[in-house]
Order: sequence, then structure tokens, then C-alpha cells
Amino acid sequence: MKYLKIIGKNKISGEVIISGAKNAALPLIACTILAKNEISIGNLPDVVDINTFLKLIDKLGGTFQKNEGRVTINPSTINKTTATYDIVKTMRASILVLGPILARFGYCEVSLPGGCAIGQRPVDLHLKALEAMGAKIVINHGYIEASAPDGLKGAKIVFDKVTVGGTENTIMAAALAKGETTIINAAKEPEIVQLCEVLANSGVKIEGIGSSKLIIQGSNKELLEIKDFDVIPDRIEAGTYMCAAAITNEKLKISKVIPLHLESIISKLEEMNFQVLQDEDSVTILPTDEIKPVNIVTTEYPGFPTDMQAQFMALATQANGVSTIDERLFENRFMHVSELLRLGADIHVNGNTATINGKANTLKGSDVMATDLRASSALVLAALVAQGETNIHRIYHLDRGYEDLEGKLTKIGAEVKRFTE
Ligand code: EPZ
Repeated sequence: MKYLKIIGKNKISGEVIISGAKNAALPLIACTILAKNEISIGNLPDVVDINTFLKLIDKLGGTFQKNEGRVTINPSTINKTTATYDIVKTMRASILVLGPILARFGYCEVSLPGGCAIGQRPVDLHLKALEAMGAKIVINHGYIEASAPDGLKGAKIVFDKVTVGGTENTIMAAALAKGETTIINAAKEPEIVQLCEVLANSGVKIEGIGSSKLIIQGSNKELLEIKDFDVIPDRIEAGTYMCAAAITNEKLKISKVIPLHLESIISKLEEMNFQVLQDEDSVTILPTDEIKPVNIVTTEYPGFPTDMQAQFMALATQANGVSTIDERLFENRFMHVSELLRLGADIHVNGNTATINGKANTLKGSDVMATDLRASSALVLAALVAQGETNIHRIYHLDRGYEDLEGKLTKIGAEVKRFTE
């Protein structure tokens, strides 16, 4: 297994170029299943989850060619309808093929995604939406078996809870359904907006893009002609490097971003007394005299993202005073706390709220273990300001979602090396 060795307290400076968004690219690759033509996708992040999803497309019978940040997918040869356990167990996002495969073939089996390090993460809302569109769904030997032999029909779907993946699956299913689908309480994340825009540019009529009410006119099983597109920048990767600047209290430019997607992150950094300069496609974080504590509640977009909670917790250890973080989306997303404690942080957890007693220059390098993608990036951030050497084990989590993390950090002055245990 690989681990990262980080020597803390190096000065960082310069510019980080942000890659395409993993969480946008995954549903966008899934949506190619709805098409009859070859589609070229640019600004594709080179991370493990994307490669796993492409492997799934291959297993379904599709073909693809990947080279230098671009993939060309030919979905016309897709002829299988099962997402098997071996793939789903490594990546829950495999559930995103359920809507498009079912809509195209009238049948789909997906191995039931289990809970994961951040909580139970059920898929009941995905299934309820597809059932409302006429699918018959049974759970058999750990597989979701969905069928709609006469095709899916447009329906009115009211989500009890805002769900990113559930909204994506429903949008893709609705694109090939017969008639009109209305989604109420839809997720509004930029990744959803891009999925809608790609479909709309390819002829699907969608009203309400970017709002919580989407109205989609389906093609009645006629496959789409999807136009080539580039994946939007990764707002969570950008936020993570913004925290790298803040935690080391150095000036750093984060480029190739959409500042609008970073508003809640920028606003929390400003509350912590950092100045954030914004350009058309970059943000620059400036150092501050005093890092102030902050109170954060995670919520759906455009609120503060759960995917940035762990990184801000690392940052709050350096603030002058008491910060709180209230995690409202996932029930078990404080796994990084025990590892931050190993580095000397003073954090107390009570239910879904963490209280961080911050003080600059108190962290010391240690051996720590990565538990999920964002928890791992919090440990990397903490290691950048810890005195001495931190070894972060189980970094395969980081490789799932951060492209060239060592390369990007090394370029801005951090001392980071990868070793095999
Ligand atoms: C997406 O997961 C992201 N993953 C997650 O990013 C992100 O943390 C999450 O949205 C929230 O923003 C991808 O886009 C691939 P949800 P998703 O459905 O779609 C509950 C990362 O680090 N729920 O919006 O699985 C669920 O348990 C990851 O990149 C149900 O109860 O999240 C959670 O409490 C991790 N039933 C809440 O809704 C359902 O059927 C939001 O989950 C579906 C969800």
C-alpha cells in the first residue's frame, strides 16, 4: 500500500490549476448511455473513480478511448444491463447507470451499494423516483432489479430530501421517458446544472435548469445525439487548495475555476479574516494577521458543501478561538477527527457537531490514516502546517478524487512524497 510523507511548515506560493470535476464527470459519462453517437468529453480529471466508471462502461459493452484529459465514448455498442458487485463495491456512483440503462433497455440490474465510511447512504429515493415513472423494482440477492418493458413514463416526482445522485438518475431516466417529468425539490449543484445543460444542448427540453423544479420532456426511447463538451472545474478540489493557502497563511492563486461555484467557500474564508480576490476564472487567497474562528453548517448547494467540511476543520485548528462545524448531510462524516487528534488538534464531537479549539502552531507530525476522500485531504492540509513529518496511510482514497495531488502541492512549495509501505 502507498502512503504520503509530508514535511510541514514549508512556505507555499504560486498558482494551482484546477482539474475537471469528478462529481460532474461521473453522471456525464453515465448520460452518454442515452446517446447513439460517439461523444468526446474534455477536461476529464485523471482520477481513479473516473477510470473505474469507464471500466463500467466497457463492461456494459461500450467502448472508449482516453488520452490526455479527453475521452471519446462510443455508447452505441452497449448491450449489457448489469452493474456487477466487483465495480459497485469500489464505487457507489455506479448507481448512476441505473436510470439511463433502464430508460434505454427497459431493464437494469445494479448491485446494491452498501453503506460506506461516511454513513448508510441509502438509494431509496432513486428507486422511488423510477417506480413513479413506471419501473417495477425488486431487490434480489443483493441486486436492484428494475424493469419497465414498455418504457418509462413521465411523472411528477417530489423528493422527500434533496439528493444529488437521485436527481441525476431521474433526469437521465426522464430524458428517454414518454412524456413530461416534473422533479420537485431537485438538487441544484453545479454538477446537476451541467448535466441538464449537456442534455438541453443535445435537444432535450428542460425547464428550470439551476432551480429546484425541473420539467423534462422525454424522447420516448429515441436515443439522443449528444454534443461534445468539457467538464466544469472541480469546486471541491479548488476549495481544498484555497484551504491549503489559508492553513499555511500564504498567498496562492487558484486558477481555471468558476468563482460563482465557490461563493459559500469564499464567504467562510472571508469570515475567517482572509481576503479573497476574484477574477473571471481564478481566485487568490491573501494571508491574514489573525485567522478568526468560524461556525459552519453543511447543507445543499448553494450552501456550504459537506465535501469541504473536513478541510475547514483542519483549517479551524489554526484559528484563534473556538469554531463549530455542524454536519447535516451525512451521519458519520467525522472520521477525520480522531486522526486530527493524533496531530495534536483539540476537537470535541457531540452528535453531528464538532467543536474545534483552535490555536496556531500546535500541530505536530505523526502517522495518520485516510478514511475517505475528503477526510484524507483534511489530513494533507493539517500536515502542511504540522511541525515535522506526517505519514498519511491508505491514500488510495485521495487518488479517487484528486488529480496529481503530489505534483500540484510540490509545484507550490510543499514537501510531499509517495512511498510504498
Ligand atoms: C453526492 O453523493 C456526491 N457524490 C458526494 O461527494 C457528496 O458528498 C454528496 O452528493 C452531497 O453533496 C457524487 O456526486 C458522485 P446525496 P450522493 O444523494 O449523490 C441521503 C465526494 O467526496 N439519501 O445528495 O450519494 C443520503 O444518505 C462525495 O466526492 C437518502 O436518504 O449524495 C445523504 O444523507 C462523497 N436516500 C443525503 O441524502 C437516497 O436515495 C444526500 O445524499 C439518496 C440519498
